[in-house]
Amino acid sequence: MKLTKTIFALAWMAASATSVLAIKIVHGPYLQNVYENEATIVWISDKPSVGWVELAPDDGTTFYATRRAQFFDTEIGVKRTSNLHAVRLTGLKAGTNYRYRIYSKEVLSHKGFRVMYGDVAATDVYRKQPLKFRTLDSKKSETNFVMINDIHARKDIIAPMLNAADYKNRDLIFLNGDMISIVNEEKDFFDGFLDECINLFAKEQCMYYVRGNHETRGEFATEFNKYVCPRQSHLYFTMRQGPVYFINLDTGEDKPDDDIEYSGITDYDNYRSEQAEWLKTVKDDPLFQSAKYRIVIAHMPMSHEPGEWHGPRDCADKFFPILNTMGIDVMLCGHLHRDKYYEPSGEANFPIIVNSNNGTLEGETHGNELTLQVRHTDGKVVTKKVYTAKR
Ligand SMILES: [Fe+2]
Repeated sequence: MKLTKTIFALAWMAASATSVLAIKIVHGPYLQNVYENEATIVWISDKPSVGWVELAPDDGTTFYATRRAQFFDTEIGVKRTSNLHAVRLTGLKAGTNYRYRIYSKEVLSHKGFRVMYGDVAATDVYRKQPLKFRTLDSKKSETNFVMINDIHARKDIIAPMLNAADYKNRDLIFLNGDMISIVNEEKDFFDGFLDECINLFAKEQCMYYVRGNHETRGEFATEFNKYVCPRQSHLYFTMRQGPVYFINLDTGEDKPDDDIEYSGITDYDNYRSEQAEWLKTVKDDPLFQSAKYRIVIAHMPMSHEPGEWHGPRDCADKFFPILNTMGIDVMLCGHLHRDKYYEPSGEANFPIIVNSNNGTLEGETHGNELTLQVRHTDGKVVTKKVYTAKR
């Protein structure tokens, strides 16, 4: 047995050493859209390939104990040949740990019905522990989370901000927009913040990402949905963890669509109208109806305050009338690059907490109390609010 393992290890190392041109996984994997019964895993290989994920229960067995369930990266029934892979894992159990391994098999050519394959790259489950994640659980008694926003490619600040909020012991991590300033190519995502998030947490903890107005800019911006929420039909989404239901909105751009800055390429007024129609359906979700707390996460604070631009005004026009009927406890925003607090008003019957670009918002439930606070990297708490459960 020991000899077999040694031979296997030597073969693995020899293959690694000699295959300098072998296919490699160059970014990721990272987790997207982890809910109670599904999760999506995304990664990039350096050569066109087909991709798949092996999924195993976290039951103490070695990963090699048996053939593991395989989920393929497919599009309309065909394995996708691509450098970018996104595999949706379905049929998962709530509140359950899973282990996984990803694969990319190089596609050398595809002519007619003949496909020629090259080498295979995979994450290591021999010398390392398999990667893990945990599904959401609406029956969990309590939850907590952290949120950062407006990083604008200052990737070196991400670790201090998350560490200040003890992110390794938090249930959920949210990025609330403007993680980069413009997206002209794929490299901008990974260099600006995504590789750093993968190194810190995103291989094993979902990166719940609410788009900001800056991710809408640049020639690669239309590709955003291939990297974030890649197996969903849109970027806005809901989720439930423990007693909290989260409504994650996409507030779009801040200026009018016909502003010179957008060169006639945007259509966010119609996009927000379409999103508002979707928002009206959220109240029908049983997980929404039974949630003790209801939190909205949105990049731009919605408002008609004097001096406010078109985007936040259009959001207020379209989303507030719906949200005001939904028993929302609080809305969490960024965008302003400063801390701000909006009391409930005539236009929104819930408060809005705005987190600055140097603050980490921490949320925790304890029985009938929801505590939210913003902490700067120097440890100073600049905003602290405690809300009592309405339900
Ligand atoms: Fe912004």
